[in-house]
Amino acid sequence: MTLSFAQKPTLVGDRVLLRPVGAGDVDGLVELLVDPESNRLTGTHAVFDPESAADLEKAERWYTSRDDHDDRLDLAIVEREGGTYVGEVVLKELDTDNRACGFRISLVGPRAFGRGYGTEATRLIVGHAFETVGVNRIELEVFDFNPRARHVYEKVGFVHEGTKRQALRWDDEWVDTHMMAIVASDWRRQS
Ligand SMILES: CC(C)(COP(=O)(O)OP(=O)(O)OC[C@H]1O[C@@H](n2cnc3c(N)ncnc32)[C@H](O)[C@@H]1OP(=O)(O)O)[C@@H](O)C(=O)NCCC(=O)NCCS
Repeated sequence: MTLSFAQKPTLVGDRVLLRPVGAGDVDGLVELLVDPESNRLTGTHAVFDPESAADLEKAERWYTSRDDHDDRLDLAIVEREGGTYVGEVVLKELDTDNRACGFRISLVGPRAFGRGYGTEATRLIVGHAFETVGVNRIELEVFDFNPRARHVYEKVGFVHEGTKRQALRWDDEWVDTHMMAIVASDWRRQS
């Protein structure tokens, strides 16, 4: 069977629920894109202008077209109680030959940070990838100035595999990027 992210699931945790992103989440995406701290922590150089009709249209197009892609899975992270959008978590660049994919996550700034949402969302989507989809390896990159994210990834079982020195230029400084990954046998061992 060919590996695919064509199925877009809803994954239910204690604090958050993950479900496919859609038109109703565009305001949340815009909040993410204009947040300077989220942009720094994700190394996002592109400037999003919330006053620009073209930028807003691009954001809307992005969130309304994710279902068309079977090589990635873009899920909104919403509070289980109330259903408020608090961010997104993504499995991307599915490599069907090697049963591997990339990972990214971003929460909407201080209103969502540090409440256990990131850890739970990461566990939910990683569990889905290994247990339902049949992925064998999930990899990510985290900047040296983001120890909170690294701690979350280590808690979930990601292992540091190497460092790309001075891979990011931010505020006139060089920043190292750490490569981390988790493989299915790590996940099975700890489950
Ligand atoms: C990274 C991110 C997803 C984590 O999600 P979160 O909901 O804030 O994190 P949680 O509340 O689940 O867990 C935070 C953990 O980090 C720890 N922590 C907080 N600040 C820390 C720091 N400076 N150094 C090390 N650990 C730290 C907390 O104590 C907690 O660990 P614990 O549960 O063992 O006590 C979220 O903060 C985020 O979206 N940040 C902005 C974008 C980003 O950084 N994305 C990742 C890019 S690689």
